[in-house]
Amino acid sequence: MRKFFKCLSLIMLIGLLCAFGLGCSDEEGTPAAGDEDSKEKPTYTVAFEATFAPFEFRDEKTGEFTGFDIELIKAIGEVEGFDVELKEMGFDGIVASVKTGNIDIGASGLTINEERLKEVDFSTPYYQAGLGIVVRANENKIKNVEDLKGKTIAVQIGTTGAEFARTIEGAKVTDFDQVTDALMEVKNGGADALVNDYPVNLYYVNKSKDDYKMVGGKLESEYYGIAVKKGNTELLEKINNGLNKLKENGEYAKLYKKWIGVEPPEFLPGEEEA
Ligand code: ARG
Repeated sequence: MRKFFKCLSLIMLIGLLCAFGLGCSDEEGTPAAGDEDSKEKPTYTVAFEATFAPFEFRDEKTGEFTGFDIELIKAIGEVEGFDVELKEMGFDGIVASVKTGNIDIGASGLTINEERLKEVDFSTPYYQAGLGIVVRANENKIKNVEDLKGKTIAVQIGTTGAEFARTIEGAKVTDFDQVTDALMEVKNGGADALVNDYPVNLYYVNKSKDDYKMVGGKLESEYYGIAVKKGNTELLEKINNGLNKLKENGEYAKLYKKWIGVEPPEFLPGEEEA
């Protein structure tokens, strides 16, 4: 009998706790605190190749991936309610991985071009880049793109720079997985020049002015976009909305200033004049 009452009071206690919504999950009950956050906050994988400072690279001190693209996509996730999982990979695999859905987002200084638009969808442009030439600091024969005819050129595999270099008459083009290795080849004398994105060249040349210099100015105008799988309009809208929010709240300008070192241009293509 004593046992029976003990049991009964236990059942009543549990019933009481449930009534106050403590612990028991009942279908119609109000969600416990904290549920709102964890519920439905998706994590998207983000692919990039990390020898592309100041857009994506490994911070030497912290060992963490950082840069304009990395902080931009994280900030977009923050205002649009998603988390990101960073995945470094070879640059030439990024568009294909996004295309097959292996990776959700490509954020890697990806130039928007016709070829890639057949494979993936791009966000609105977030940065205006272009190509440029790097030579050894003591080089005095190569002054512009004309002088690259018949020369040996190092490039990063799969890039617009690699494509451009192959249009130069008589040039011998060597592909490297990493921009930093392509640069090393120039320094070592294995190549006469590097053709690669201008802002990235600027970053690396500024870091080792004794070894390198830039010649010939900006060659092509290109725009960077964030890539998603074709037809993934839900994710593309989040990214575009996020970009707009960051432009409005000043966060985009802050990141631009931090990583590029200057104020962002007033308008990128696709942006209306106010
Ligand atoms: N903008 C060039 C392209 O799209 C080069 C990008 C290289 N990016 C990188 N993270 N290595 O082809």
